[in-house]
Amino acid sequence: MKSVMSRRMSSVLALIVMGFALSACGEAKPLQPPPPAPPEYADMHMPDGYWGNEEIIAQGKAIFIGAENIDVNCASCHGKDGKPVKAGARDFRQGDHMAKFSDAQWFWRVSEGVKGTKMKAWKSKLSEEDRWKVIAFESTFGLKGKEYSVAEKKWVPHGTAKTAEEVAAEESAAKGSEPAGGEEAEEAPTEEAHTEHAPH
Ligand code: HEC
Repeated sequence: MKSVMSRRMSSVLALIVMGFALSACGEAKPLQPPPPAPPEYADMHMPDGYWGNEEIIAQGKAIFIGAENIDVNCASCHGKDGKPVKAGARDFRQGDHMAKFSDAQWFWRVSEGVKGTKMKAWKSKLSEEDRWKVIAFESTFGLKGKEYSVAEKKWVPHGTAKTAEEVAAEESAAKGSEPAGGEEAEEAPTEEAHTEHAPH
């Protein structure tokens, strides 16, 4: 009797231990910002007029859910609403995680996939335009109403992204208002000294 009980106990214990081990495996890895996009992708950005464009987003959705091409079904892993249905896929509804990616990083991931995971390279199946469309749709899960501002290097409300010129103007205005005798004032003479010495 006693041995039956303890055997039962130990199998219950084994189940509990297995349960813990499984849930630990299934747990999402801590959310890390992705590595920078390689040089060939670093300067790729969402085409003008795509962010927040209902038509583009609808076309992106058709691709994402496999309605456009049965071989391309992002939703089979990422879920129709961005809630993952396959282990390992991250939750696209988590805006704070998705915002760690620039548009170039998303484009790179979709184009080349993620080695060692279920995420394939899609560049042979999707044109550049289609990849951007799918990204425009995908961003609506966690970053609805936002767009990536290349100049500011962050996600901002749609239509408020600043141009590189605006950011540069703001930066120089901020520098101008700094107390006098900043780095600039000290650096300038050194540079002049250099040019004077140069032609020997
Ligand atoms: C067979 C399952 C599967 C399919 C189909 C799939 N993905 Fe993924 N995808 C994954 C997994 C798993 C990851 C996480 C890789 C990692 O660990 O970084 C991922 C990562 C991503 C990422 C990077 C963000 C992140 O959370 O790491 C993007 C963007 C993405 N997928 C978009 C797409 C798009 C767009 C499609 C359709 C063209 C697609 N995926 C199809 C499984 C899939």
